[in-house]
Amino acid sequence: MCGIVGYIGEKQAWPIILKGLERLEYRGYDSAGVALHNNENILVYKKSGKVENLKKLVDEENRTNHNLGIGHTRWATHGAPSDVNSHPHASQSGNIVLVHNGIIENYAALKQALEARGYVFKSETDTEVISNLIESIKKENISTVEAVRLALTQVTGAYGLAIISQDEPDQLIVARKGSPIVIGIGEKEFFVASDAAPIIEHTKQVIYLDDGDVAILQRNGVYTVTSMANEIKHPEVKSLELDITAIEKGDFDHFMLKEIFEQPRAITDSIRGRINLAAADVILGGISQYEEKFLKAKRIILVACGTSWHAALTGEYFVEELARIPAEVEYASEFRYRNPVINENDIVIAISQSGETADTLAAIEIAKEKGATVLGICNVIGSSIARQADAGIYTHAGQEIGVASTKAFTTQLSVLLLLAVRLGKLNKQLDDKRSNDLLKSLMSVPDLMEKVLAEKSNIFELAKTFITAKDVFYLGRGFAFPTALEGALKLKEISYIHAEAYPAAEMKHGPIALIDEGMPVIFIATEGKSFDKVISNMEEMKARGARIIAIASEGTKSLLESVSETIIEIPKIDEILVPFLAAIPLQLLSYQVAVLRGCDVDKPRNLAKSVTVE
Ligand code: M6R
Repeated sequence: MCGIVGYIGEKQAWPIILKGLERLEYRGYDSAGVALHNNENILVYKKSGKVENLKKLVDEENRTNHNLGIGHTRWATHGAPSDVNSHPHASQSGNIVLVHNGIIENYAALKQALEARGYVFKSETDTEVISNLIESIKKENISTVEAVRLALTQVTGAYGLAIISQDEPDQLIVARKGSPIVIGIGEKEFFVASDAAPIIEHTKQVIYLDDGDVAILQRNGVYTVTSMANEIKHPEVKSLELDITAIEKGDFDHFMLKEIFEQPRAITDSIRGRINLAAADVILGGISQYEEKFLKAKRIILVACGTSWHAALTGEYFVEELARIPAEVEYASEFRYRNPVINENDIVIAISQSGETADTLAAIEIAKEKGATVLGICNVIGSSIARQADAGIYTHAGQEIGVASTKAFTTQLSVLLLLAVRLGKLNKQLDDKRSNDLLKSLMSVPDLMEKVLAEKSNIFELAKTFITAKDVFYLGRGFAFPTALEGALKLKEISYIHAEAYPAAEMKHGPIALIDEGMPVIFIATEGKSFDKVISNMEEMKARGARIIAIASEGTKSLLESVSETIIEIPKIDEILVPFLAAIPLQLLSYQVAVLRGCDVDKPRNLAKSVTVE
């Protein structure tokens, strides 16, 4: 949710931290702050708003001669996004200064106890409690790191922390529980961050902290990782595979547009090596040892949030259609709180781009407690969900930075389709011919996506007619319905236009009352089982004054012309694979409407990329 950056070494800390914060801003952008240590004092700067506001503040003072620092970009949870609530947060004496990602659930009780001991709090945050708690524990015979460990044993909740102390200018302490921390190892220098993006341009050697780890990084290049019980640990030093171009916009105006255009490549990468046409089958090495379990499973439960939930819903359709195994989809955010009936015969599949979504992690926890097998479909290698799951399948979308998910969605679909085909083969529901037809269609998706992307200018033209829209409906049926939901989510989250999606036939059961003269209604009206019925649904909307926009299969224009004001054609493809292609015009439309309305496309208001709070 928030982004943490830290540096210790011989170089100037501020430029490194500033660049790092810019790279992590997608994680939260309500406010930003930095603490810089010059061997004697710690200077703290914090400012509400985006990182550029902080940059102006610090640059005015031309900050140099600081070789140790920590920075933070915030998505507010406790307390408004004001200057005072921004991180870093210093302890009462100013000796302990820290930045935090996560939520301290028992902060109120800890705060009360500290207030009783004379501590006065400046902010409304849960974070300030940690700096004061550490200070209250630190004594002559207790080092800062020991005080950190002792403080953290009293804390419940989630944290990624970077901590500096005024009287120890040669060390940076980091700790993790539930919020990722990556440490980059350079030549007598260390870089700390919530993810690898700020580290990649400095070093490729990294270690990932595990929950409960505390690390001390020293200016002389020595580092120590311990457990909370102070046992020395030896985490593996890994080599980052991330390419710097993956985290830059290149020639595109926004990350979202770049990521929409990356989809053909992302699908190719996500299916590469997983299709065996000769055997009319799929190879999913990550879950092969669980295939027997799938066959015995009474049902599959897919859990996810947001866009990943829409992919899960499509996955339910895939699995039931192709493998005839009962599947259910749950909002991860609800799962834990409604005492779900799960047992050891169930397979729970958690889907997440970031692999850090707190609601999805909580759903995994309860599924495991109840004995279910948990598999993960994640994009971020080594992420918390990937590690918590018993096994899983990675998507290979590459880093997604735009807050609005695009390539994550279609790559999740590709992996879910592969899984459904594999299960269909295992369950003897799919013959070789059908399996091969589907796999060949999937292999054709990247080229067909390029064709849809080539229609960008037509969709951008259409976007002009949405600038003043107040409400938009997205309708689809069958395999296309979850894509309608995804289209509506894209429009509302980046352009702030109210949008809703329904299965087209549901409209007559209530929502049709909202249809008014000129209201845009976007239909996914591609060829398939319900095509004729969808045309009837279009007529129903048109009769009530709606302005109909149809996403249609190539060659069907003549059938839709009388009922639609605008027709966007996509290449013909097996009905099951329509979501891959129909998603693209909907993404492009939302993108351009948001641009034309002057919205901050990559950093929409009130949102953040990975939602690491429940
Ligand atoms: O990282 P995850 O896939 O777990 O994230 C889940 C949702 O927070 C995410 O898909 C969100 O809905 C996107 N902003 C939608 O564009």
